[in-house]
Amino acid sequence: MCGIVGYIGNRNSQEILIEGLKKLEYRGYDSAGVAVFTENGLQVKKAKGRLAVLESQLVLTPLNGTAGIGHTRWATHGKPSDVNSHPHTDNSMKFSVVHNGIIENYMSLKEELTAKGHNFVSETDTEVISHLIADIYDGDIVAAVQKAVTRMTGAYALGVLTEYEPDKLVAVRLASPLIIGVGEGENFIGSDIPAILEHTRNVFILNDNEMAVLTRDGVDLMTLEGNFIAREMFRVDWDIVTAEKAGFDHFMLKEIHEQPKAYRDTMSSRISPEGDRITLNELSMTPEYIKDINRVHIVACGTAYHAGLVGKSVIEKLARIPVEIDVASEYRYRSPIITKDTLVIVVSQSGETADTLAALREARRCGARVLAITNVVGSSVAREADDVITTWAGPEIAVASTKAYTSQLIAFYLLGLHLAQTLGSQTPEFIAEVITAMRHLPEQVETILGQAETIKAFAEEIAVHNDLFFIGRGLDYAVAQEGSLKLKEISYIHSEAYASGELKHGTLALIEEGVPVIALATQRDLLEKTVSNIKEVKARGAHVMGIGVEGEEELKKAVDTMFQIPKTLDVLSPALSVIPLQLLAYYASLARGNDVDKPRNLAKSVTVE
Ligand code: F6R
Repeated sequence: MCGIVGYIGNRNSQEILIEGLKKLEYRGYDSAGVAVFTENGLQVKKAKGRLAVLESQLVLTPLNGTAGIGHTRWATHGKPSDVNSHPHTDNSMKFSVVHNGIIENYMSLKEELTAKGHNFVSETDTEVISHLIADIYDGDIVAAVQKAVTRMTGAYALGVLTEYEPDKLVAVRLASPLIIGVGEGENFIGSDIPAILEHTRNVFILNDNEMAVLTRDGVDLMTLEGNFIAREMFRVDWDIVTAEKAGFDHFMLKEIHEQPKAYRDTMSSRISPEGDRITLNELSMTPEYIKDINRVHIVACGTAYHAGLVGKSVIEKLARIPVEIDVASEYRYRSPIITKDTLVIVVSQSGETADTLAALREARRCGARVLAITNVVGSSVAREADDVITTWAGPEIAVASTKAYTSQLIAFYLLGLHLAQTLGSQTPEFIAEVITAMRHLPEQVETILGQAETIKAFAEEIAVHNDLFFIGRGLDYAVAQEGSLKLKEISYIHSEAYASGELKHGTLALIEEGVPVIALATQRDLLEKTVSNIKEVKARGAHVMGIGVEGEEELKKAVDTMFQIPKTLDVLSPALSVIPLQLLAYYASLARGNDVDKPRNLAKSVTVE
């Protein structure tokens, strides 16, 4: 996710901005830039690539000045490029803006401003903000920012400078993080505390719909209506490493907790304002093409493949199109039957996984249309696919994928509903019902995260075992496979996921006194059968933790420990039931003293076949 740093003081701002941006590198980025008030006015320098590229340009032509804003960009609207990098300016070069978030109505604002004579140079949503502020400005930058944000919908943390008022740095936030650092004769803004921790430990955290006006001598916090806010300063006593993780012990735990936001970000701009339709405007597939699709292939690796397992069920249930699924490393070698009426969906968090990319190329070579679900705009997979659904999970640092997986599930729900509404395979009422339930998912995830202690206790019990089993039927089986992978990769405990009904065909022989079994039982129409399977393993001495929907008393009676997820539609339950499994893997890994974020033998991006 983008990183913002801003400085106003008496020191050379360029170095402070670059050092601050380096501290935000962990957030992921593909380009960077700074804007500084110099003796020649507001000057901007920006470059695609690592910060070192920008730094080397600044060594050649430094921007000397004591106030400026800096940004690392994680591409959303428009590919990574010099011109799409922030800061963005208006045509007069008098206003400069850095932004983290997404402006959902940027297209209509852009049209309006273009009609007034504004000339846009980038593909970004952010550029409209600098033009909008310039358009509104009539001598008061604070008032102009206040008015501009009332025109914007979406999410933003902004840092704004204008050459007309060089002694002010204005910051404002809605739904994207922004903090204010308070120093002596100098003040700072940052997306996150590490950006400024070297200079001050005194911080104000901005809340939604609040702004800050920074001068060299002070900081005013105010509402968007201009009412001053009195707030106690927060004294940061974390070290820099803890600060990068926002106070969490590990990136994985931070990312698990970021899932409610990732769900909201991935779905919010793709649901109609009335909440009854999906608006996947980014897809170029026509209704005629969709009607001609005769089969879907889903291809991916690891956790992304597990998201695909859920995706298969979702598309078949909602759109009634047959779906095949393969791990990418097998796909090419089984001579799959691919025609022009095959829609191939590749799923990849990084967008760089070699096997997935090779499968994509093979599918295109055979004439199929390829739709990518990826978390990285501008990645190889995104560039080479015909269509892309971007998951807005933000950068994932921990090797074990969590928020990328669940955002992929959301992408599949959006796609399944989009296909269903185009094909008429579900009634508008049912589609609206699923959308309503989807919108509750973020708060339901928060409820689950609030019960992490139950999972922690169970994780500590299983941490002493060397083998365990995950069982489930239907969608629960798909989630069981992800739970098993998560546990293996970071706790190094051997585990297997089995379709509950398959147990008696062999695996039951492995169940003996005390073997832990995690039984997923969220699918109401399969509940009775799953409960019978639980009784089978219990009768052989297994220690069973059940994961089911709240209020299922029969299930509760059948297991040793019960974890309840909030009620949702059966088809959506994977987006909830996987959360306790992620926590289980995390706490088991912790109990075994492993390196949670960097498990042995594994890499975050697998770019070799
Ligand atoms: C497991 C994990 C891996 C990846 C797999 C594919 O937690 O992260 O199994 O899912 O290597 O990676 P992407 O999604 O980047 O293609």
